[in-house]
Amino acid sequence: MNPELADFVGECQRRLSASLAIASCTGATGRGAPHYPAAMPSLAALTAAANYSLAHGGKRIRPLLCWAAAHALGTTDLALATAPATALELVHTYSLVHDDLPAMDDDDLRRGRPSLHKAFDEATAVLVGDGLQARAFEIISDAPGLDDHQKLKMIRVLSTAAGLHGMVGGQFMDIRATDSELDLAHLQAMHGLKTAALIRAALALGGVAAGGSQSQLEALDAYGRHIGLAFQVVDDILDVEGDTGTLGKTRGKDGQANKPTYVKLLGLDGAKAEAQRLLETALAALADFATTADHLRQLARYIVERDH
Ligand code: IPE
Ligand code: IPE
Ligand code: MG
Ligand code: MG
Ligand code: MG
Repeated sequence: MNPELADFVGECQRRLSASLAIASCTGATGRGAPHYPAAMPSLAALTAAANYSLAHGGKRIRPLLCWAAAHALGTTDLALATAPATALELVHTYSLVHDDLPAMDDDDLRRGRPSLHKAFDEATAVLVGDGLQARAFEIISDAPGLDDHQKLKMIRVLSTAAGLHGMVGGQFMDIRATDSELDLAHLQAMHGLKTAALIRAALALGGVAAGGSQSQLEALDAYGRHIGLAFQVVDDILDVEGDTGTLGKTRGKDGQANKPTYVKLLGLDGAKAEAQRLLETALAALADFATTADHLRQLARYIVERDH
């Protein structure tokens, strides 16, 4: 990672850690927390489980993209996008907690530690996922520095991206397509929903936080659509080529479960070429942006070149 991006990422990570601690009700003294009696003893295990899912590991790509999108449009005050960045990580983490459940991918390892349903139990994992999702919208509703119109727009974008015609729809297609062959159009549609929808939302939320124009939001969306797809293509590649220790999740699960993936359809070289093509298209969508969009450009490269 180049040093300038590393500085930006470091600053975003610090802000996110603080706001996620509040989100899981463990940072009980921060803004947004007072109406949560952190010491409510009967909820201590639920709070601990929510915190377990949020506090460790994770590349935080969606929040970073949200902050980088706001930066691309000239926003220098990162605080303006903290609420949507946090909400994105909450929805994403919920999706991972549910994705790992025995009824879904049945994965025991996540972010280098036992999956939530292993460390706690399945009912707790279901409830933590549900709770994180709801908390995301609560956090946007309470966001300081955003007007009601911006908040409503963010809630609309994020709920659509997370819902039946967004991430959840894609997860449903993924589960239903297990053990079957998908053609490229169907695979693209599935990945577009299960993964790219939330990544597109990250760009949109950053754009709304920055008060972007329609044409700026459209350019960010084109970038998000392509880099979002590339993200899942690389995830499919890493399932074959990655290393369990580095990935923090068990390598080879897609093959074992006979999931339809880009690698299965196009082969490793074909999937890598597709990731490159998507990267170039994503970068082209930023052609009219100045150097303020360099973080987005660098994050795009990181998404395609990453090893975990
Ligand atoms: C994994 O997402 C699930 C997919 C959508 C491919 P990430 O690779 O962003 O997972 P973390 O947040 O870094 O653990
Ligand atoms: C999950 O895709 C996408 C989600 C919406 C969580 P995967 O099932 O490929 O994600 P990993 O590989 O388990 O992280
Ligand atoms: Mg899955
Ligand atoms: Mg999975
Ligand atoms: Mg995967």
